[in-house]
Amino acid sequence: MEWTKEERYKRIEDVSSTYMTELVKKVNEGPYRQIFHIQPKTGLLNDPNGFSYYNGQYHLFYQWFPLGPVHGVKYWYHMVSNNLVDWEDHGIALEPDTKYDSHGVFSGTGFVKNDQLHLFYTGNTRTENWTRIPYQCHAVMGNDNYIKKSQNPLITGSPEGYTDNFRDPKIIEQNGRYYCIIGAETDSHEGAIAYYVSDDLEKWTYQRAIELKGNITSENQGFMWECPDYFELDHQGVLLFSPQGMTEEGDNYQNIYQSGYLLGNPLDFATGIFHVTENFKELDRGFDFYAPQTMTDPNGRQLLVGWLGLPGVDCATDEFGWAHCLTIPREISIQNGKLHQKPVSELSLLRGKKNTVEMELENEAVIAENFSARTYELQVTFSNLSGSSVGLSFRMGEKEVTNFYYDRIAKKLVFDRSQSGETATAEFGSIRKCDFSEEELDIQLFMDESSVEIFVNDGLEVFTSRLYSQVDHNQIQFYTKGHATVTAIQWEIN
Ligand code: FRU
Repeated sequence: MEWTKEERYKRIEDVSSTYMTELVKKVNEGPYRQIFHIQPKTGLLNDPNGFSYYNGQYHLFYQWFPLGPVHGVKYWYHMVSNNLVDWEDHGIALEPDTKYDSHGVFSGTGFVKNDQLHLFYTGNTRTENWTRIPYQCHAVMGNDNYIKKSQNPLITGSPEGYTDNFRDPKIIEQNGRYYCIIGAETDSHEGAIAYYVSDDLEKWTYQRAIELKGNITSENQGFMWECPDYFELDHQGVLLFSPQGMTEEGDNYQNIYQSGYLLGNPLDFATGIFHVTENFKELDRGFDFYAPQTMTDPNGRQLLVGWLGLPGVDCATDEFGWAHCLTIPREISIQNGKLHQKPVSELSLLRGKKNTVEMELENEAVIAENFSARTYELQVTFSNLSGSSVGLSFRMGEKEVTNFYYDRIAKKLVFDRSQSGETATAEFGSIRKCDFSEEELDIQLFMDESSVEIFVNDGLEVFTSRLYSQVDHNQIQFYTKGHATVTAIQWEIN
């Protein structure tokens, strides 16, 4: 079904309560609802927003269009957790109800200061002839979780040299001053990150674009960088963003849009120079990952949550009135010049019944008969490897199967969802690969009703994807061409 502009800019109060009741019913009666991922109760979810720790709890918001599975006028929806696993639904946090955000409360971040959670977001507006004017806006949440928008925007429009694609503020404190980085498109259609400085979080002065220096070899940088994020870990600077418009290079950049990072020396906001030491790398190798956001928690962990979805792609759940979900929270580390992502340890709270298997495989494929759960965490170690490949099949029935394996000849990890069931985005291919050359293959995999997140060798590579298969086929099979010792644990998640 095509949605008209008018329909996309309807707000909740513009539709009848019957409309919403029927939509909820359609969502709940349809397949593919997730068990342990944050998902919208109706409509479309996109970027995580305002991920923060405030007043003793984790706060996570997300972009939401309530009325259907399309990108319409966006709200912020609020979830709260004590443990990053059980999320309490706090409903709508920010509505598109002022002249500075009339066409969407777009993405942004949370920043704790003076016992308040400051929310910074982009107010998207359109004039009558549909010219976009972005505003960077501010709201404050107190410890009663009540959110109040500031009356005036902090930043109006974009400075000279940038188009109206100017959004997704992130606040960083450095040497007693505040910096706001913003995703941007330059007039010559290159992706950029602009930044402002402030001494009080209220009055902001434009500085310049972050200048990348050093070991940058790629010209392939896209036309717009969305959702910038910056943090320091182990005395290194990490600049994370989601570029639009990169062209594919070999096995890289296969999705419609990318999401990745640069490593460098700590960014000096006084000069704006980011001395890059490691070139752009994708954060995820799967089909559905975009617009991640990080925060530092009280234990000093750098945590990341992403959108388990992408702009401009269809979802098999569209016909059931909803689309997309968020990833599980991950902890970031830097090892040998690469970001690693590991599921946060709290996720072990989800673990139910435990099943185990050990086997020596020699040119064979063996089904783990006692692994029959549909939603689970799986940990597998393939060691003592020889031969050409080793891997596993899951969600495996008569006709459907999903494969993940290590091709030891090509030195690649391969994720194949060509026979995984319903495909929503076949035009972007059904296989994803990345370079991999390790002695062992270690997998930690989270299978929900309609998504899989595969963490390989301590989070060195991650494959995040939706999987849409309805028939009850939950088997797991391990296989080799050559030899492998397989040790596997499955924890059922209900
Ligand atoms: C990324 C994005 C952001 C924007 C938001 C709108 O997916 O396009 O740049 O703020 O989504 O929903």
